[in-house]
Amino acid sequence: MKTIISPSLLSANFNELSKDIEMINQSDADWFHLDVMDGVFVPNISFGFPIISHIKKLAKKPLDVHLMIVNPDKYISEFKKVGADYLVVHYEACSHLHRTIQSIKAEGMKAGVSLNPHTSVSLLEDIIGDLDLVLLMSVNPGFGGQKFIENTYSKIEKLKAMAIKKNPNLIIEIDGGVDNTNAKKLIEKGANALVAGSYVFKSENPSNTITKLKKLEF
Ligand code: DX5
Ligand code: ZN
Repeated sequence: MKTIISPSLLSANFNELSKDIEMINQSDADWFHLDVMDGVFVPNISFGFPIISHIKKLAKKPLDVHLMIVNPDKYISEFKKVGADYLVVHYEACSHLHRTIQSIKAEGMKAGVSLNPHTSVSLLEDIIGDLDLVLLMSVNPGFGGQKFIENTYSKIEKLKAMAIKKNPNLIIEIDGGVDNTNAKKLIEKGANALVAGSYVFKSENPSNTITKLKKLEF
């Protein structure tokens, strides 16, 4: 499977968002990564439904929506309406994760679960078979531009071993501090999707940077 590249619009230029969206449309990127933060689950607030539906109108690739919010169940159908293709909830925000995952799938979206850096992948053992995607946070969620946490590699290995036994098609996505220094190793350990925010948008040529990530050629 080819590596999926999902640039995070959190680091895009929101004054000229349509330009950055078109850059991604024309690039080797596979998805748009959209970070929704509520100021409760994480100490930051980003954007919500109106912005996502504007992005949807311009985006020619699937929307990978990462919910860093409490009570995600309340909003599942609304995220479907504004155009989410992948809906990713945090393990730490869901008391009834199985029900949440079923609700996401019932709306016709792909379902993902994200784990904070301190949350063990072993906690997914009884739900992994129901998931399309697991998003491992390699920084503490809330902000772009943070330093990659090295322990992520061993979490990928454990998750990959579990996926081979229980869900070989699982997408293992890594989010936070992804750049040229770690991308290759992340894929070698078993990841197959990479989110990158500041590494892409702070680079001189974001489209080339996306191509490099896709090819793992730096
Ligand atoms: C952080 C978000 C990330 C963020 C990644 O909470 O989930 O998607 O945009 O940004 P970088 O790649 O700059 O660490
Ligand atoms: Zn994210």
